[in-house]
Amino acid sequence: MSTDTYTSSVERSNVLATDIAADPGMYRTLTGERPTGPLHLGHLFGTIRERVRLQDLGVETVVVLADYQVITDRDAIGQVQRHVYDAALDNIAAGIDPDKSTIFTHSAVPALNQLLLPFLSLVTEAELHRNPTVKAELAASGRALSGLLLTYPVHQAADILFCKANVVPVGKDQLPHIEMSRVIARRFNDRYAAIFQEPQALLTSSPDVPGLDGRKMSKSFGNAITLSMTPEETAQVIRRTPTDSDRYISYDPDTRPGVSALLTVAGLCTGKKPESIADEIGSAGAGALKTLVTESVNSFLAEHRRRRAELAAQPGYVQSIVRRGNELANETAEQTLREVRRAMGTHY
Ligand code: TRP
Repeated sequence: MSTDTYTSSVERSNVLATDIAADPGMYRTLTGERPTGPLHLGHLFGTIRERVRLQDLGVETVVVLADYQVITDRDAIGQVQRHVYDAALDNIAAGIDPDKSTIFTHSAVPALNQLLLPFLSLVTEAELHRNPTVKAELAASGRALSGLLLTYPVHQAADILFCKANVVPVGKDQLPHIEMSRVIARRFNDRYAAIFQEPQALLTSSPDVPGLDGRKMSKSFGNAITLSMTPEETAQVIRRTPTDSDRYISYDPDTRPGVSALLTVAGLCTGKKPESIADEIGSAGAGALKTLVTESVNSFLAEHRRRRAELAAQPGYVQSIVRRGNELANETAEQTLREVRRAMGTHY
């Protein structure tokens, strides 16, 4: 994406944030994640805290656990059911209130998936191939481009448009998908009847959370602190972080990726600046830094983990939340599909 496009996305997002705060009842948000593994601090700071904030402002909130997106760049769907339930628990522990918000899965909502067909007719193959996020995911997968990887941004448009969401809190990498959703809404409206609003991206302001090796925090890099780890497991992954031999701790992401990633993570968890944490540690070395980071992360996540464990211990609880969310999502999707069929003249 060009810098210009990005700058204008930021500007539009800032205006949107002001409008939402003034009139939250005008907005519905759809957001979610791919249930490929346990959620980590990157998810929490990236989008989950933002969706909780929107919910608490009074914006109607819908969370998709995008199980069909799991198989965009891999063959095996893995322990998808477990990951769906884990993600639902983490969302609720982080503050998503299942009495106010909906948590659902793709695969349980046929009418959402059916929107893919008319939506696919609204985009060209060239547009699909141009999507920079798809290109990056293709390269990272090291495999042939599957039909689903190529077209999943259109499926993601169905996630957003099935419930007529008009705001989507996202990080920068998701902007091309939001743009595609806007194009699809616009073309559908022009071609058939005006039933969709163009959704807007609300850029989350939190920085990318570095993984413990300085690269982006990601399950697939094995550098993540997951929300559900025990304090001991957290200490263990932090202890394994490669640092360097300079005892004097300083914040410099370019030359000291490990040390700086640790400082950033501690900064996010304590609300302090990484530089001032570095000053506090001074020449006490990487061992002292790791102790401080472990304590910061564990105390920051203690309440989340306590709530999560409490919910996980209630038999059938998370299953019932997802089942109820799926029922609601089905009602909404069927209603939208009825409108789409009427607009297209395919109602019999
Ligand atoms: N693609 C998103 C991710 O990888 C997850 C997602 C699926 C999503 N459907 C969505 C995000 C709809 C926003 C809106 O994180």
